[in-house]
Amino acid sequence: MCTAFNRMDLQGKIVVVTGASSGLGHSFSHALINKGSIVYGLARRAEKLRELETDLGPTFRGIECDVSNENEVSSAFKKILSESAQIDVLINNAGLGRFGKLEEMSLEDWDAQMNTNLRGVFLCTKAVLEPMKEQNRQNQFGGHIINISSVAGLVGNALVSVYNATKFGLKGFSEALMKEVREDGIRVSCLYPGSIDTEFFADSGADISANPMTPADITSTLLHVLEAPDNYLISEIVMRPLRPRG
Ligand SMILES: NC(=O)c1ccc[n+]([C@@H]2O[C@H](COP(=O)([O-])OP(=O)(O)OC[C@H]3O[C@@H](n4cnc5c(N)ncnc54)[C@H](OP(=O)(O)O)[C@@H]3O)[C@@H](O)[C@H]2O)c1
Repeated sequence: MCTAFNRMDLQGKIVVVTGASSGLGHSFSHALINKGSIVYGLARRAEKLRELETDLGPTFRGIECDVSNENEVSSAFKKILSESAQIDVLINNAGLGRFGKLEEMSLEDWDAQMNTNLRGVFLCTKAVLEPMKEQNRQNQFGGHIINISSVAGLVGNALVSVYNATKFGLKGFSEALMKEVREDGIRVSCLYPGSIDTEFFADSGADISANPMTPADITSTLLHVLEAPDNYLISEIVMRPLRPRG
């Protein structure tokens, strides 16, 4: 006998997207609004968030927040929970990379990448775990946490040491958390994309590949992961450009 399981329906779901002001986070927010979700977009650039609110309408709610700042994260999630009383999906997407020889990396370069790519994930994830566990106790569906790592979370490369450390760290964090909370009905998925055409490369000190993926490519994969049937979770996905040299 074949049991049919429901797919996660994104209509009306409360989704938090970090790094919503550009690139992947911007694209994720558009797609989720089109699916009928209510999206809280976190980022530091208030003017970009206001533009998104104008473009996407009242179901997109921008909150100015530096994800590495404990107080700002705490007040952002307090606001979300006071308005919506639940959080169905958290997408830990905010991140940056600075590439170069290790002896040329400053402590500030290390801190900026560690603080956003890992400390930010830690703070935002801690903020949603108890609400998601309570949702699981009430209705069986706990929630879904998606972490955006990178192919740089799987493969080390010259000039990428600090960024590699953050994204490998995120791999370990995701795998461990997935095993810790799946009995609570909470899915944890980690995505590992290669080069994508976004603002990421503007400040990174690296060149983008000749034939990168687009934010829309990663967004369609994100929707596939989110909309998986209820009885399983997709824990990891790797995406790479085809013919990266063009
Ligand atoms: N582009 C690629 O080739 C590629 C490949 C693999 C993985 N990734 C990963 O994909 C994720 C998204 O990057 P992207 O390519 O979309 O780059 P992007 O266009 O530069 O977007 C990065 C986003 O993160 C936000 N952000 C950065 N620091 C933040 C902080 N401290 N607090 C809150 N928000 C912060 C930025 O907003 P504000 O500046 O407004 O705060 C921006 O919205 C990152 O985690 C990146 O490591 C990118």
